[in-house]
This record gives sequence, C-alpha cells and structure tokens, in this order.
Amino acid sequence: MVIESKATESTPPGHGELKTPIPENQTTWAGPHLLDIDVLTRDEILLILDTTAGMEEVLHRRVARTPALRGVTVVNLFYEASTRTRASFELAGKVLGADVINVAGSGSSVEKGESLVDTVQTLKAIGADVIVMRHPSSGAPYLAARETSAHVINAGDGWHAHPTQALLDAYTLRKTMGTLEGKRVLIVGDVQHSRVARSNIWALTTLGATVTLVGPGTLMPRGLEPSQVHGLPAVEVDDDLDRAIVGADAVMALRIQKERMRSAMLPSLREYASRYQIDSTRLAKAAEGAPLLHPGPMNQGIEVAADVAHGLQSEVERQVQHGVAVRMAALYLLARTGE
Ligand code: CP
Repeated sequence: MVIESKATESTPPGHGELKTPIPENQTTWAGPHLLDIDVLTRDEILLILDTTAGMEEVLHRRVARTPALRGVTVVNLFYEASTRTRASFELAGKVLGADVINVAGSGSSVEKGESLVDTVQTLKAIGADVIVMRHPSSGAPYLAARETSAHVINAGDGWHAHPTQALLDAYTLRKTMGTLEGKRVLIVGDVQHSRVARSNIWALTTLGATVTLVGPGTLMPRGLEPSQVHGLPAVEVDDDLDRAIVGADAVMALRIQKERMRSAMLPSLREYASRYQIDSTRLAKAAEGAPLLHPGPMNQGIEVAADVAHGLQSEVERQVQHGVAVRMAALYLLARTGE
C-alpha cells in the first residue's frame, strides 16, 4: 500500500493527494457511517485493517503529515470523558490534513439545553463533514446519523458499542499473532458494562476467532449463555478464569467500570481481584507469549497487575499507538464514500 504525501496547489481539497491505498480488486466500504462493527462484513473489516497498515507507514515518516483530507472538517463531539479516543481522532484528522474541531458537552450550548439533534445539525451547518461522537446513552450516534448528512463515527455510546476500539484491538492482535483465524481470545471482567466487549465480540468472531467471556455472573449480560443471545455471535462463557485462561491465544482485560455499576454487583474489589485479576501467574497459563490487551484506562491492581500491565506480553501501549492509525483509516475511508 502506498500513500503519497505529495500535494499540488491545483489538487481539489480532500481529493487525489493519496495514491489509493485500496487495491483495485478489493472490496470498498460504502459507509456512510461507522456506528458499530455488526454492520461490517469480514472484507470491510479487512479493508479497514489493511488501510490502517498504510496509515501506520505515514505515521512512521519523519514528517507524519499527508494532505489526503485537506478541505475536510472533522468535529469531535464528546459528551463523555475520553483521553485516548479523543486525542487519537484529533491527531488522526490533523495528520491527514483535515480541519479538526473539538466540542465537549460541557462548555457548549448543550449546557443551555440544546438537543443532540440541534447540535449535530448546527455542526453540519458550520461545515462538519465527519462528526466523531461519544455519548453516555446507547444509540445516540444512531440518532445523530439519521439527522445529519455528515458522516458519523461512534466513538463509544453507553454500554453499546465502540467500533474503532474493536478495530484497533483486532489490528493489534492480527499484527501480534499473524491471524485471528482459529485463535481463542479471552475477554475478562466487566462485560455487562462494556461497549468494548460487545464490539470486540463482533470483530473477533467475524475474523475467525473464538471468544470466551470470563467474569462473575453479575458482570455478564443477563441471560448470556454459550449460544447466540442479544443478537451477538456465539461466544463461550466461563466464570473460572484459572480454567479458561489455560492455552488462551490472547487475553483482553476489561476495566471495572465503577461509575456505571449499581451497588452490590461485586462483593468487594479485593475479592474480584483475587478471582479475576490478570497477573503473571495466570498469564503464564495462557499460550506462550500470549498478548495481553486492555482498552484503558486501567485500574492497575484490580483487573490487571501492574507488572503484567507493563510487561513483555503487554500490548497496551501499542494499542494506543494503533488507535491513531485505525482512526486515520476510518476517517479516510469514510470521507471518500460518496465521492
Ligand atoms: N479506550 C477508550 O475508549 O479510552 P478513552 O475513554 O480514554 O477514550
């Protein structure tokens, strides 16, 4: 994949400065939004991952800039806290030459009672081509997508979905293990409140992995059985981490989301840690060199021990780095749809 950084003044904004990173015979992605993984085919996911590899190459250049999205306006609309997702979307847009505007719920007219629909229509009116949106309510980006002609990217909605996180996780795992086909990936912890888990179940199973969810029953979605429920693909479920981790090809620890929990979902964090913390003893039972992932932010000492969080098998820092390239790919591919 070749991404050409050369631009000319005569090139129309946002067009033509990239040599296409999409091989002629490969699938295309119609977009027009990225709301979750469940609407993406395997080929579309692979297209995004392959495009990500090209974006990584851009990021490794001495001057990591290309004008591929010059003339495109990206608005980051975040109604909920974020470090990684917001910063990486901002950097992704800037590396691609887009104009990037950050709007937070607090400090905007949302505080004066402006509705979500009015907000996205206002942002479109001032020129937003892509709206990257995080919202505490599941489904909010779907409403936004219905009400604006801008492309909408879901940057995390409630407990529902976090598609670019799942894509960067899949990219990280594919890079580490070569393929996801036939691999067994453990997702450990607070699945109930995890939009990351839901989107990852779609992405990983679509790419051929088997997913085992591990955690206490109180932190599993209600009624989850080792079969297809809640519209999710089939997964395995185990409440015994010491059993499930044996031979696992990869391990993903989830954050205990104290802010989303009602009382009594866990007897105590100490007991949770004793049964479900990924520590060096447990990680040693997985396949040799099995990568450890965590979407962040991490509660070190609770769902993951500090030494393995920063140990040789940890992919946590690389996940964050890959987040920029994945978001570049998503912005680039979406902004091209409808051309
Ligand atoms: N993984 C993730 O979404 O992190 P942030 O909340 O910091 O964006």
